[in-house]
Amino acid sequence: TGKFTYDPGFLSTSSCNSTITYIDGDKGELLYRGYPIEQLAVSCDYLDTCYLLLYGDLPNEAQRQDFHARVTNHTMVNEQMQFFLRGFRRDAHPMAVLTGLVGGLSAFYHDSTDINNPQHREIAAIRLIAKMPTLVAMAYKYSVGQPYMYPKNDLSYAGNFMRMMFATPCEDYKVNPVIERALDRIFILHADHEQNASTSTVRLCGSSGTNPFAAIAAGVACLWGPAHGGANEACLNMLEEIQANGGVAKVGEFMEKVKDKNSGVKLMGFGHRVYKNYDPRAKLMRETCHEVLNELGLQNDPLFKLAMELEKIALEDDYFVARKLYPNVDFYSGIVQRAIGIPVQLFTAIFALARTVGWIAQLNEMIADPEYKIGRPRQLFVGAERRDVKPLDQR
Ligand code: CMC
Repeated sequence: TGKFTYDPGFLSTSSCNSTITYIDGDKGELLYRGYPIEQLAVSCDYLDTCYLLLYGDLPNEAQRQDFHARVTNHTMVNEQMQFFLRGFRRDAHPMAVLTGLVGGLSAFYHDSTDINNPQHREIAAIRLIAKMPTLVAMAYKYSVGQPYMYPKNDLSYAGNFMRMMFATPCEDYKVNPVIERALDRIFILHADHEQNASTSTVRLCGSSGTNPFAAIAAGVACLWGPAHGGANEACLNMLEEIQANGGVAKVGEFMEKVKDKNSGVKLMGFGHRVYKNYDPRAKLMRETCHEVLNELGLQNDPLFKLAMELEKIALEDDYFVARKLYPNVDFYSGIVQRAIGIPVQLFTAIFALARTVGWIAQLNEMIADPEYKIGRPRQLFVGAERRDVKPLDQR
């Protein structure tokens, strides 16, 4: 057993070579295929970012149009999906529903289930990117008992999602461009983040040769946890709880609990395995938060004020400074989503929608790597030595 390195949590193990996303955690830098996230967030839209992650560079005009056309061609889901959805309780958590629906796609598309076939992977990638907004919106509409809205393909990716979420068949729906841009930015900022837990899950799952939809469903399941994608939901619940218990005046008291290791309370939306400086996505999200709240006349939103107060205290407090704990992307994304009208329970599903492209790009990269083999971590066995089974009356 001595020949294996013990590295719980993969603190010092690289699981792969990758050319997709670069993070410098000390500098607070994030690049997709070499392009800084700050530039992508202002100069590109989410589908440009998808193209970049999948194909290695930003599209030119012709490639852009072709890619948009290919994605919009696949935004509908098979009508049978409605019956699958109907089997769930209306109050089911959207991530439970999404795990099922995404895995269920495997059963519909026999021309895109062979993970080792590049054409299959290509069409599975387009289908997944195209269908995730439809599935998330269907899960939402189902939870509130409203009819599903079919995709409208002359809208942008984010605009179409907004319409499927918030429109009803009996009234006209106009996409608010400020909200559309904010949502698109949320998608861009969440599109990839190198070898995080869900991406590593997708790679490991895909390494067995399973089909791409099943591998992405595994990513959705992993993302659900509060230490990962579930943090945006947990963060907003935390802000609401502090607000209900006295708001800004009670921040000091709450922070004492966070610093008390026995309390089990964490400042959700703070800290990151890799960023030991301000998460660049959080900076952009904070800016978007201002824009959205101004647009909606919610400048005095108490949760936003509370978040700013928590951030201010944390950035000056020895506990957080010593541990290099800074706000991460989830600290402000929940406030933006709540202002837009997205229910808290759906936040992680929106993260999953956006991360799908990253998962697929990483899966493609792994399979195209000539050195790729099934992922199979070893262990250091620390259990009982060999022993004999005793008869029942002697145990
Ligand atoms: N509140 C209070 N203390 C914290 C926090 C926090 N949010 N995060 C880390 N710490 C402490 C931790 O207790 C430990 O203290 P000590 O050294 O005294 O034992 C120290 O800081 C180092 O933390 P760690 O848990 O060893 O760090 P990690 O890399 O294993 O965990 C993390 C990273 C993101 C899971 C953790 O910071 C956390 O749970 N944060 C809150 C949840 C959250 O916001 N997650 C979203 C991450 S970004 C989006 C995504 O990736 O999905």
